[in-house]
Amino acid sequence: MKRVAILISGGGSNMVKLVESMAGDHPARPVLVLSNEPLAGGIALAKKFGIETSVVNHRHFEGREAFDRALNSQLEAVQPDVICLAGFMRILTPVFTRRWAGRVLNIHPSLLPKYPGLDTHARALQAGDAEAGCTVHEVTDVLDDGPIRGQARVAIEAGDTPETLAARVLKMEHRLYPAVLERFVSGKTGPVYLREEAEAPITSRLSD
Ligand code: GAR
Repeated sequence: MKRVAILISGGGSNMVKLVESMAGDHPARPVLVLSNEPLAGGIALAKKFGIETSVVNHRHFEGREAFDRALNSQLEAVQPDVICLAGFMRILTPVFTRRWAGRVLNIHPSLLPKYPGLDTHARALQAGDAEAGCTVHEVTDVLDDGPIRGQARVAIEAGDTPETLAARVLKMEHRLYPAVLERFVSGKTGPVYLREEAEAPITSRLSD
């Protein structure tokens, strides 16, 4: 059984979907949920699942490398095969990325290489893009870079705001990340591509 650690900073909805997916004959199990934010809602959710949790508050460290060394030692204690960054909002240094190279996945709310960094949905709307989406990629030394392991696309609709778009993209994140994780822990690196389902035509919905 492969061992998966999940790093979060907030509500942890992606973490929940990953945890729920690792059941039955899935080849992996969650061994740790770690947050840099002491009040992250996802920590309470992970506890409800009975998963070991840990908080490493970045404010208690002088500089990114010291924080990353603390992350490494927490992770070394659980020996993860794979580390999923799921809404983990810290910039990582090579102290972390080189230690775990080839084992770390991240989900990012844009169609990378477009819009690394923050405010991805506002930037897609501002640019007049027809599509937005999310990407799961392997983590390297470079922020929001690294080999793409999955991507899901969402059509941008007239009247979309960053909030309405984020909500539709998040639904796709919840499908994409578990699909990529399962392939990744099985040693398959070919990317997963998903597209938002088109609404079923009204006639077929009535005949259901
Ligand atoms: C998700 O939309 C994720 O893609 C994004 O934070 C949100 C976390 O939501 N991540 C980033 O922006 C990373 N740069 P969640 O806590 O409900 O999973």
